[in-house]
Amino acid sequence: WRSSLPQLDSTVDRSDEDSGGDIDWDNLGFGLTPTDYMYVMRCSLEDGVFSRGQLSRYGNIELSPSSGVINYGQGLFEGLKAYRKSDRQGYMLFRPEENARRMQHGAERMCMPSPSVEQFVHAVKQTVLANRRWVPPQGKGALYIRPLLIGSGPILGLAPAPEYTFLIYAAPVGTYFKEGLAPINLVVEDAIHRAMPGGTGGVKTITNYAPVLKAQMDAKSKGFTDVLYLDAVHKRYLEEASSCNLFIVKDGVVATPATVGTILPGITRKSVIELARDRGYQQVEERLVSIDDLISGDEVFCTGTAVVIAPVSTVSYQGQRYEFRTGQDTLSQTLHTTLTSIQMGLAEDKKGWTVAI
Ligand code: COI
Repeated sequence: WRSSLPQLDSTVDRSDEDSGGDIDWDNLGFGLTPTDYMYVMRCSLEDGVFSRGQLSRYGNIELSPSSGVINYGQGLFEGLKAYRKSDRQGYMLFRPEENARRMQHGAERMCMPSPSVEQFVHAVKQTVLANRRWVPPQGKGALYIRPLLIGSGPILGLAPAPEYTFLIYAAPVGTYFKEGLAPINLVVEDAIHRAMPGGTGGVKTITNYAPVLKAQMDAKSKGFTDVLYLDAVHKRYLEEASSCNLFIVKDGVVATPATVGTILPGITRKSVIELARDRGYQQVEERLVSIDDLISGDEVFCTGTAVVIAPVSTVSYQGQRYEFRTGQDTLSQTLHTTLTSIQMGLAEDKKGWTVAI
């Protein structure tokens, strides 16, 4: 499908594309606003090396009906954000090398070649610069960057696809949940599971997401924000919500489910563990966290790139509703301020997490 890619229009002077689009920056949710450019790079299974990546106009791509991704779900995605710097001079990415490495790890699990860390980060930067007029003003949101790695070549028998495509597109976003920054309400699901031991819950394969839509839709129809999944074996231990990791705080001790293969190793999760330790919560425990631990907890919150840090005000489990602390002086609120200040360049980045463009 190389020939059908919408090509970059060389008559467009991209340096002029600095003004925002026709968009209501004050009411950005997590919807898809198409932007101007996407980045595409390909590689054959035989070569195993990606090359000749390029920007092209954002648009539909053509795929063989027998491509590996459509038939067998051979695909991964990533998510990261670019923020407009406070001084309006450029943009900030948050730990993009972590996304690159997570994609490489996932690609190994899914029998796909993957771009190098340098290729990945370069492609992200190119995508942000080409779409810079879509990076929201400071404090209004971020440009969400969605890298994909898919088996784009045709295959009929079950086997790795013969060709792979790495593609990045981007969209301006605000808060993920309709609640905005307000606390969310979760419901524990004990029939549908997100992952199983030996499965792919610990990598960001596209196939982890559609299977939870049913639970998510049912929960939303009952007024809940999202679903909290339990482990598939004991149906007792917390895993994560549909699109984010989970933390609990009890008696000054922070705990989060350990990344034992069924839990996505979130980059916000990893950053929050470090920030909490810096704040004196030395005992951030990565361990099995049972439903009983949750019920008796003081504070609960979710973390993710799209979600950032979302406080949880209630969790419903087997018909009972449990309430948790939210608002002023909670750990989640403190961590939210610390994390977003680093991400937006408002606080000194002592950890070297941000990458300026
Ligand atoms: C992200 O937080 O970036 C994710 O990939 C979750 C997605 C379901 C929005």
